[in-house]
Amino acid sequence: MSQTASREVIVESLAHPVPEQVPPASVAGRRWQKDDLVSVYEPIAVELGLVEQILRTELHRDTPWVDRLLEHNWIGGGKRIRPVFLLLAGAACGKLGPAHHQLAAAVEMIHAATLVHDDVIDKAETRRHLPTFNATWDNRTSVLLGDFLFTHAFYVASLASDPHALKVLAQSSNKVCEGEIRQNAWQGNFGLVELDYLAMIADKTGELCGCSCRIGAMLSGADPATSEQFARFGLNLGIAFQIIDDVLDVVGQQAEVGKTLGTDLLNQKPTLPIIHCLKNSTNVDRERLLDLLQSKAATVDDVMPLLTHTDSITYSRALAQDHAGRAVQFAESLCPSPYSTALQHLARFVLARMH
Ligand code: IPE
Ligand code: IPE
Ligand code: MG
Ligand code: MG
Repeated sequence: MSQTASREVIVESLAHPVPEQVPPASVAGRRWQKDDLVSVYEPIAVELGLVEQILRTELHRDTPWVDRLLEHNWIGGGKRIRPVFLLLAGAACGKLGPAHHQLAAAVEMIHAATLVHDDVIDKAETRRHLPTFNATWDNRTSVLLGDFLFTHAFYVASLASDPHALKVLAQSSNKVCEGEIRQNAWQGNFGLVELDYLAMIADKTGELCGCSCRIGAMLSGADPATSEQFARFGLNLGIAFQIIDDVLDVVGQQAEVGKTLGTDLLNQKPTLPIIHCLKNSTNVDRERLLDLLQSKAATVDDVMPLLTHTDSITYSRALAQDHAGRAVQFAESLCPSPYSTALQHLARFVLARMH
């Protein structure tokens, strides 16, 4: 997605809230478990099985040291949202084929690479309910494994022999890295405004979701305008997904989410709840929050009363709902099919997820 298009999506949502909030607020309170996803994935279950097979085959090496890392159960444990985006978008636009499977596997490998590196940066110890690579081995090993996953993803993608899809994947992966670099540079920068934050998460998280949808549609023969609409759908959902993730970092239960929480506070990340709270607090509360954050030892219990005072969690959820609502509107406008229905369910999952 071009810089301008992604900015449009963000500015649109800030300037013109969706008139009728879709999905309804009551859905956001529902607890979604992993089993709910199984039924959402049903229309592309067989295709997703083929993608899993590619991942299993490709993430296996005869080199004992590499294989030991790849055998770590962690690789198998994700929700697979990005390959599912690709497959559902592809199926909504036409017929799925081997190129979709290759690209879906590649997208998941790129996502896995970003997580392995991200856990080093965030000093996280748990991911997908298991110890992270950096906790089990060390940072050096994790950096190298992340590199292996990144490079191998492009090899797997190249097997589809579709230069356009490969180009889109490469550009988007590059944007994800840009987003992470920007976030890293903004550590401890609590002067950021909401638009900076949204542009950053559009890159680090929205981009890969958008690119998955775009590639799925493109490979099924969708015209450029339709592919662009699918990319916007994915971008909007990716933005909503990251806002909810940042909310869960503060209010989530680690046993349910399955990864180390509270790291955004410790790592002094200016996430939406914090940016909103700083903007809307009294001078005294703002100073108190800044002191806590700058101590690098702020806990959820410390900041929660301040966030509650400014309704910053509610505000963040509403902004996520707005982005997801736009995605739902698009999915509803598609020709009715099990795939468009699944895309709508996915948007609801993004808001109501607990993991
Ligand atoms: C985690 O993504 C990283 C974010 C963008 C917040 P997911 O929640 O999709 O991770 P897995 O693949 O299911 O573990
Ligand atoms: C998302 O940010 C990471 C990537 C897009 C790579 P987070 O740091 O919030 O993700 P989690 O919470 O560790 O999964
Ligand atoms: Mg992280
Ligand atoms: Mg997070």
